[in-house]
Amino acid sequence: MADGPGPAPGPRVILGIETSCDDTCAALVTRDGSIRANVVASQGLLHERYGGVVPEIASRQHLEVLDSVVDDTLERAGATLDDVDEVAVTRGPGLIGALLVGVSAAKALAAARRLPLAPVDHLHGHVTASMLGDDPIEVPYLVLVASGGHTFLARVDDPSEYRVLGETLDDAAGEAFDKGARLLGLGYPGGPEIDRLARDGDPTAFDFPRSQPGDGLDFSFSGLKTSLLYTLRDLSKEGQTPFRKADLAASYQRAIVDALVARLEQAVDREDLDRVALGGGVAANRELRERVSALGPRVWVPPIELCTDNAAMIAGAARFRRALPYPEYLDLDAAARL
Ligand code: KG4
Ligand code: ZN
Repeated sequence: MADGPGPAPGPRVILGIETSCDDTCAALVTRDGSIRANVVASQGLLHERYGGVVPEIASRQHLEVLDSVVDDTLERAGATLDDVDEVAVTRGPGLIGALLVGVSAAKALAAARRLPLAPVDHLHGHVTASMLGDDPIEVPYLVLVASGGHTFLARVDDPSEYRVLGETLDDAAGEAFDKGARLLGLGYPGGPEIDRLARDGDPTAFDFPRSQPGDGLDFSFSGLKTSLLYTLRDLSKEGQTPFRKADLAASYQRAIVDALVARLEQAVDREDLDRVALGGGVAANRELRERVSALGPRVWVPPIELCTDNAAMIAGAARFRRALPYPEYLDLDAAARL
């Protein structure tokens, strides 16, 4: 990447844009990591009836609302585009059509003012979300990122990069929540639904598998979903399913959380690092937040709005990357995979 322009006088404000999946997000973040505004227009209801994100609907909706989301962000921060001296946008990974809407809008906004543009890896955003705000985590640290599309453990020694120590070999943890919720006849996205229902259930009622594949720090969640399917089959023969849903949700959630926390504890030992951060939509889960917080005082669990997809983490991550100067980014492409 090319060098950006020299630092502007006074605090720099970065406009972040994130449209990798089904949330249309914009945020304003200063160079020192304070969040001036962080706006998310969720498309959850639009996709709910299909039981998952429909890519075509997602991109159309981003196109429809992104301008207003950016305007709203500026208004909430009491700012104008004159205060912005860098634009940051999620380049990937994600749904290609959805990403393209954000990347095109970011290019247009930046080019109209000859501002530099930082293309950001969505996962780098989740990895560095705990570096935002009044009490930012410092390197080196370990981070567990668990979202709908990804689940991995990484080590961060330099905020501009991360080294993956282990990752899921099949489903992401969020996907396990979403698929489990669908089997239980709950709504989409499934994570928050299971989280809610689990509060009324007994997490020891059913014994679901906690897979720990190989000798490393990888995860596997596909067997868990199959195990839930078989359990449901047996229960429905007895006509018991409707009475056991909360117990099923609590036990299923316990199995996912146990698997995540076990690997995190192994990583703490292996890397001899006790500074730990959480990230990704699954980090909104109440049980996971409590269990990880209990690991020790050097644990950063970001507020929920910085765990689920948002643009503050994209603008935040851009602080550690060199932005492309105008006009170098005009031919920048979105990338479904990085
Ligand atoms: O990071 P995110 O907002 O989007 C992706 O990059 O994928 O993560 C979305 C995922 C979904 O699978 C959703 O079910 C899960 O995060 N999720 C939760 C909770 N809130 C969101 N999973 C468990 N408990 C929650 N409270
Ligand atoms: Zn995400």
